Amino acid sequence: MIHIEGLHKKFGKNPVLSGLDLTINKEGVFAVLGPNGSGKTTLIKSILGMVVPDKGTISVQGEPIKKNWKYRKEIDYLPQIANFPGNLKVRELIRMIKDLRQSPSDEDRLIALFKLEPFLDKKLSTLSGGTKQKVNIVLAFMFNSPLLILDEPTTGLDPASLIHLKELIREQREMKKTILITSHIMQFVAEVSDVIVYLLEGNIYFKGSIEELKTKTGQTDLEHAIAAIATAPSHA
Ligand SMILES: Nc1ncnc2c1ncn2[C@@H]1O[C@H](COP(=O)(O)OP(=O)(O)O)[C@@H](O)[C@H]1O
Ligand SMILES: [Mg+2]
Repeated sequence: MIHIEGLHKKFGKNPVLSGLDLTINKEGVFAVLGPNGSGKTTLIKSILGMVVPDKGTISVQGEPIKKNWKYRKEIDYLPQIANFPGNLKVRELIRMIKDLRQSPSDEDRLIALFKLEPFLDKKLSTLSGGTKQKVNIVLAFMFNSPLLILDEPTTGLDPASLIHLKELIREQREMKKTILITSHIMQFVAEVSDVIVYLLEGNIYFKGSIEELKTKTGQTDLEHAIAAIATAPSHA
């Protein structure tokens, strides 16, 4: 589904990805973790073609993504920072994205789930951060692509919405999709993820199950296992 080889990306003199290899060839929930600034969003944007790597190759569904754009139709994406046009109403934004995607969508169910009906005729600039994030979630989940990428989906959500998000992720998982998620909330990661992909110093430091990570670090819970990597004297 996703095959990455020798990915390099620098921003100016700042090397963010340094020869990263990653293969994700089955369904399930893959949590992309790593310290702040470790390149999680850069990796995700590279997969989406929104960041152009300096070196390396990326294939999605068996096709190299370079000079190709059709593969993006196979991906639903929730950006970490959603720069919605503030003067649009929620209803108009949903309509616009549907027109662009030209795919079947089931936004009504999601609007009801997140109780967004009262906001449909409000301008995006007037919404709270949490409500904007719910709109972001509706836009990411309303289509039915085989690959779903969620960059910090829990940001700003209240407890009820967080529960709904977890249900939606489980539902996608049961539909045999591949889901990539970044999050800083370890409780959330532990609940939804099948595989942990840990980014450190421009490379994949660890890829495996939560159980394997606990064994490797000698810790009994995910939060401490992740902290143990981040504070280890050597990452070699
Ligand atoms: N467009 C950009 N221009 C310059 N630097 C960037 C840009 N995007 C990301 N960076 C830098 O790359 C590093 C990795 O960023 P990012 O991928 O957003 O990390 P993460 O998502 O893991 O927190 C950071 O040091 C960030 O400042
Ligand atoms: Mg990020």
